[in-house]
Amino acid sequence: MDGRTLRTELEKQDMKPDKKSKSASYPERQLAKMLKGRPLKLPETKHNLIIGDSRLMQEIANRSVHLIVTSPPYPMIELWDELFTKMGCTDFNAMHEYLAQVWNECYRILIDGGIACINIGDALRKIDSNFQLYPNHVKIIEHCENVGFTTLPFILWKKPTKRINPFLGSGFIPPNAYVTQDCEFILLFRKGQPRAFPPKDLIRYASHYTISERNSWFTQIWQLPGARQQNRQVSRRVAAFPEEIAYRLIRMFSVIGDTVVDPFLGTGTTMKVAKETHRNSVGYEIDEKLIPVIEGKLCDTDTLTPRRRRKAIEGFQITHRLD
Ligand SMILES: C[S@@+](CC[C@H](N)C(=O)[O-])C[C@H]1O[C@@H](n2cnc3c(N)ncnc32)[C@H](O)[C@@H]1O
Repeated sequence: MDGRTLRTELEKQDMKPDKKSKSASYPERQLAKMLKGRPLKLPETKHNLIIGDSRLMQEIANRSVHLIVTSPPYPMIELWDELFTKMGCTDFNAMHEYLAQVWNECYRILIDGGIACINIGDALRKIDSNFQLYPNHVKIIEHCENVGFTTLPFILWKKPTKRINPFLGSGFIPPNAYVTQDCEFILLFRKGQPRAFPPKDLIRYASHYTISERNSWFTQIWQLPGARQQNRQVSRRVAAFPEEIAYRLIRMFSVIGDTVVDPFLGTGTTMKVAKETHRNSVGYEIDEKLIPVIEGKLCDTDTLTPRRRRKAIEGFQITHRLD
């Protein structure tokens, strides 16, 4: 990050901090006034990958994290049956008790005013000839409220479906057809009261979003394609979320230099985007086979050996803690 300035960053994003420009919005003009033509040096950031179980985030102090962006394994979705069974969870409630231990830790590590963003989909499943919805989002909201989180308005992530016939049940004759499940949830929670900043905080203004970003991000339905689910380096499906989701959430709910945690890091999407948006990050992952995938995401080149590649990622560190 050394030597990079906010000015170049803003120019890259087409947001010149020019106070005379009529098109500059309020935060851009305010920022230009505060900078008085001087460039702002961005902080160097650190990215800590912990190969370990996030039900215990012992490496992170109480009240030290500004934002959580994550997507857990989805209870009652076949893709995650093996993982939950290995953890001794064989029914819906047990699976949520497993995840709940992570939500407790998230509450502990967040600062007052810190925000948790949890991407989750509900499950549809037939068990003993009984077909029903397993409302994962409800379970998570219930648990997070019990821990002390305040629930904020959530986002519905609507993925375009390519299936020719997405309808379930008897399609044309009532009453036994089912509504298609084409949205996932991005649940938003806050710990305590909204975060306070000193007036005219430079870093806060430097972290502003544009008018068009605000208009499309702060709406309840996000229509975005999913990420590619098959990764060359791992045999199983990885269920990654698209970078655009992490990008929006990090820009909406944190400022430059903050620390973002993903307790279910997977392929490293949150860490990659945190690095690119000048936030620190910590990611937990129990599957060490994902290390090369995460490193590949953080590092733009494929040509280096794994050791050199790891070294080439600024501020990156791996801690192994598999019990
Ligand atoms: C839905 S995936 C996350 C995908 C991620 N958002 C991405 O973009 O790649 C969930 C991940 O959580 C990991 N996981 C499950 N339980 C965990 C735990 N207790 N601690 C750390 N990682 C865990 C799984 O191995 C899996 O890679």
